[in-house]
Amino acid sequence: MSDSTVKFNLNGHDHDDVFEAPLSLAAHANIPSISTYHDLYEESIKNPKIFWSKVAAHLHFETPSENGLEWNFDKRKGEVFVNFMRGARTNLSYNCLDRIIQKGHGQKIAYKWEGNCEHDDFEITYQELHEKVVAFAKVLRSRGVRKGDVVAIYMPMIIELPVAMLACSRIGAIHSVIFAGFSSDSLAKRIVVAGCKVLVTVDGFFRGNKFIALKGLAEEAVRLAGVDGHPIDAVVWLEHLKRAKVPAGAKVSDVTLDAGALTWDAAVKEAASLEDVIEWVESEDPLFILYTSGSTGTPKGIVHTTSGYMVYAYETMRNSFDVHAETDVYWCMADCGWITGHTYGVYGPLLNGVTSVIFEGVPSYPQSNRIWAIVEKYGVTKLYTSPTAVRSLMAFSTDLVTQHDRSTLQVIGTVGEPINPAAWKWLYNVAGDGKCAIIDTYWQTETGGHIIAPLPGATATKPGSATLPCVGVVPQLVDNDGAVLEGPNEGNLVLAQPWPGMMRTVWGDHTRYVNTYFSSFPGLYSTGDGARRDEDGYYWITGRSDDLMNVSGHLLSTAEIESALTAHELVVEAAVVAAPHDIKGQTPYCFVTLGKQTQLDNKIIAELQQIVRTKIGAIAMPAATDIQLTPTLPKTRSGKITRRILRKIAEGDQGAHLGDLSTLVDESVIKTLWAGRFRLY
Ligand code: PRX
Repeated sequence: MSDSTVKFNLNGHDHDDVFEAPLSLAAHANIPSISTYHDLYEESIKNPKIFWSKVAAHLHFETPSENGLEWNFDKRKGEVFVNFMRGARTNLSYNCLDRIIQKGHGQKIAYKWEGNCEHDDFEITYQELHEKVVAFAKVLRSRGVRKGDVVAIYMPMIIELPVAMLACSRIGAIHSVIFAGFSSDSLAKRIVVAGCKVLVTVDGFFRGNKFIALKGLAEEAVRLAGVDGHPIDAVVWLEHLKRAKVPAGAKVSDVTLDAGALTWDAAVKEAASLEDVIEWVESEDPLFILYTSGSTGTPKGIVHTTSGYMVYAYETMRNSFDVHAETDVYWCMADCGWITGHTYGVYGPLLNGVTSVIFEGVPSYPQSNRIWAIVEKYGVTKLYTSPTAVRSLMAFSTDLVTQHDRSTLQVIGTVGEPINPAAWKWLYNVAGDGKCAIIDTYWQTETGGHIIAPLPGATATKPGSATLPCVGVVPQLVDNDGAVLEGPNEGNLVLAQPWPGMMRTVWGDHTRYVNTYFSSFPGLYSTGDGARRDEDGYYWITGRSDDLMNVSGHLLSTAEIESALTAHELVVEAAVVAAPHDIKGQTPYCFVTLGKQTQLDNKIIAELQQIVRTKIGAIAMPAATDIQLTPTLPKTRSGKITRRILRKIAEGDQGAHLGDLSTLVDESVIKTLWAGRFRLY
């Protein structure tokens, strides 16, 4: 827990705002009424073994198992662990592809790919996707990748990204997808920590009309990992630029691959004659690692294992999006570099045999109507987006939305951050024409899938609330001393029982897993979020209670940004806090002290921005106006920086009560900080 006590936002909700589940959906929903949900929920909690075995029966297990969930959440009673279907053997790639094909759906479209530029698209069937996955699985095996080896994937949203993920799971390798917006330093760290054998990447790509020469970043990361004593065995290069449409006005630099570089196509040809091996892995064999920010600064490699993740991805996808594979055209806008892309862009949709859209580009290119143009083009029925995307679109004329036919839309989901009621209502009224279910889905990289979310055909929704727990999930609220709070209340959100899809460990650091998630409130999984439960049992997420900030739905560590800033030779000390932002939700606000230097000129500001960009990535980069010079930071007598005060100053609310200042070494610093905040020097 940070130095602050948890704060809860009591505002932003209106008791009268209740939206019943659309009748058109309820009429043929998988879960058609709230009483059906309550029955299922009760069964899932009272008899999880039977409940989850019924879900698992929809999927293929080469070797079955009678075991259900087994766990210990209480470190005082021994090792903390979670197992699901221990002893069973299965394969996720097989379940996503071969199983669907065997059911006679090989010719069904798995993905409709929409490129960064308009009119650059193709479709791929389950059968064709299977062929690509088998071919790339052979490539990985030909490069010595075996069960349990880790493969790094650093790619934009092109079809080869899910192909590489599915190829890993086919041969029992563990994938570690690194968002292509991350820097070479971030990629190198992740390669080193997981000891990745192979890196799969691309020469370059376009985001809007911006050209990204990924080659240079990937090569630099490989070099850095080598210097650190972790050379990569092979790099597979997908030559995306050969086929990508060049946006008008884009400035393209040369990214010719080295003569000896191993290209995707050449590697596929070379490995074509090898055997297709499906590795039947054990339930608890790791499936993937995905890094998320940690409050101490070093990212945590969240580990998900096979059967539990698979069963949970399948079930939550089916329920939350009320999947009807025959008719749905589903579009998850999240990048595969994040958990949403893993669970609801790849595994969840494929396990359910759904047709999905993958979009390589950005919602604002070539114009801010792109999302709705895509919805119209493909007849999207279910759309999964983020509050940040919604807020940025709300700023434009509604014509950009209404000029497109959206009559196919039935469900619009959001994820990643709290959705403010205004954005929720815009989705409902404008984007959804008042006829769609709006589902605010709450979950984390760690939870594998949704844990609190409405059901489109059953749950009455309230703008700003993620509503009720998913089947199998037992949320509780506890106060800062760990006492369980009953009824309508506010507190720290914890989970009292495991569900199959939850994380199993932090890669290479089980102690960190226990300390981060099971130590604040012994015997309970701590989400690190605060929440309020209303009189109907609905949950309202109020935000992080630790030193993580949520920028456009991406968790960032204040400590990690601080350590990047202090790497600048002039910076003596830095403190970073979250400041509110109209579109991104939050944004990093940085206080820096410089040695002898008393001026923060534009050159230093640009260097500080760049250092954050290089060490973490563009998403963590503060705006120039959000870097403030201060001669000193407010500290307690024991030397702790009082972030509570810095947060208030970053928020810019001079009328705010700063709380008890008596523990500060020097109270006069506050005046200086305010002066700096408003550039009064
Ligand atoms: O603070 C919560 C916020 O995002 C955190 C998880 O971030 P990450 O692991 O990156 O996963 C994001 C995608 C699942 C949570 O601890 N968060 C996520 N969804 C919501 C949310 N906050 C409020 N409402 C949500 N629907």
